[in-house]
Amino acid sequence: MKLKFCPKTIFRETPKVTFFDAGIESTNGCDVVIHSGEAISPPDEFEYEQYYVHNHQIDHNLVITGERKFILINPTWDEPHHVIYLKRSMGALEIPTGTYHRSISGKEGSIVLNQPIRDKFFDPKKEFIPQKLNKLSLIEARKSPPVYWIWENDQIKRLMFNPLVKKTANSN
Ligand SMILES: [Fe+2]
Repeated sequence: MKLKFCPKTIFRETPKVTFFDAGIESTNGCDVVIHSGEAISPPDEFEYEQYYVHNHQIDHNLVITGERKFILINPTWDEPHHVIYLKRSMGALEIPTGTYHRSISGKEGSIVLNQPIRDKFFDPKKEFIPQKLNKLSLIEARKSPPVYWIWENDQIKRLMFNPLVKKTANSN
């Protein structure tokens, strides 16, 4: 499963100024999601993880400040579980319809710009209801070994092991 990251065009970058075009073709929404410090969207309910899943919206999430970890679960994919350590340099992560997703910020928090593509059946009352993984196919997908996506050496890398665990192991 190849995830899509929509590239942005950098017009100008100096040590103190970055100026880029973050446009997404056919987008008809512009949402900002601010995590002030450690936060999870959507939050856990008791000990249960919760996720968003859209039926009438394709997300394109671009980190503006900070870093945010995204978890994607989609039982219809050959690799149904992905963990993305999203940074601004990676561009906007596309999240197709029917994909369960949640995002987590560290202590520093993060700001994400989402430029979705919404179809005519989009209804905000139905589209943002947190969901639990309540089907066997979803639970199995969550348990399967994730594919990790990181930014390293100026490119997006796809890994089959957790890079953060590896770094900890190396430092010992
Ligand atoms: Fe979403």
